[in-house]
Amino acid sequence: MAKNQNAPMYTGEIAKQEFDPTQEYSIENQEIVFSPEQNAIWADLFSGVHQPYLLEHLCREYLTGLGFLQLDPRQIPSVAHLNQQITPRSGWRIERTAVRYTLADDWYQKFARRIFLITDYLRTREQMEFTPEPDMFHDIFGHLPFLTQEFYARIEDKFAPAYLKATSEEREVIKRLAWYSTEFGLVVQENRFKVFGAGIISSRSELTHTIMEFYRLGRDNVIDYSREIFPQLQENFARHKADVLRVIQGVNGLHQKGQMSSAEQGWSVVSALCAQLQIPRAGYLGGEVILAPFELETIALIPKTVYAFNPMFFVCESLEKMDATLESYLRPIAQRA
Ligand SMILES: [Fe+2]
Repeated sequence: MAKNQNAPMYTGEIAKQEFDPTQEYSIENQEIVFSPEQNAIWADLFSGVHQPYLLEHLCREYLTGLGFLQLDPRQIPSVAHLNQQITPRSGWRIERTAVRYTLADDWYQKFARRIFLITDYLRTREQMEFTPEPDMFHDIFGHLPFLTQEFYARIEDKFAPAYLKATSEEREVIKRLAWYSTEFGLVVQENRFKVFGAGIISSRSELTHTIMEFYRLGRDNVIDYSREIFPQLQENFARHKADVLRVIQGVNGLHQKGQMSSAEQGWSVVSALCAQLQIPRAGYLGGEVILAPFELETIALIPKTVYAFNPMFFVCESLEKMDATLESYLRPIAQRA
């Protein structure tokens, strides 16, 4: 298979950009006049995801928040509009930044003050389906509906105080926990898998790819949706844990070699990994993504996936359970002297 020479090296982090601090937005000057092309890209991204057959797979808190946010499908919202909808509801404030991918340390400093940064960068026409770099559409459409609600503020509030006190190894785990919850988490609601993570919601192709796996699990008789689905997922995961751990090891291998980019495989690495590791792809492991219960021990093993689709997603039994799991790891670190 020809390796795409132009594919970015996968390192788990997005390359640092050159940043000119004089370009940063001031508190008084947060607004941008967007070009007609930028608003047209926004409108296409918006209508790409805002379809009944996709929205029905998003968790209910997201849909409620999207209603609160009153986004204009044809126009990128102003920071003032976003703050009008968000601050009175949750106490969070939105600030614009010229930093395209904020370093976690700076990000968490703002987070600790309940300030959510949105970038001024919008993806290009070539990146409509997938962008490794979080852009304005990701920040606004993916995250901000949740920030209208107290429960999300409570979840987000846990990360910064722990991150600021954590050791460097713990920081890596915290970044993975954030990645596999608020960015790429799934949750069970109405006995169906629902999308919670902003990273999935803001990427039409990763969203449809994920939804296809929900259907495949039913079609291949892995999950019987007429019975409780979470215990079935736990059971399948436990039964195939040895193979899943080998896949995770394979992901770590690709990650270290910088070979996680796979535009020519449709951004999916699970098939290639299973072939290489001779893991039969049937039943539970028959899809392009592996769903597993949201457990600290497993999440701590798998790196963040930036330049490809995530090979694994973690499913919480409920958002309350997600909250409790995050709390159990983050609180003791945050409470250190
Ligand atoms: Fe994000």
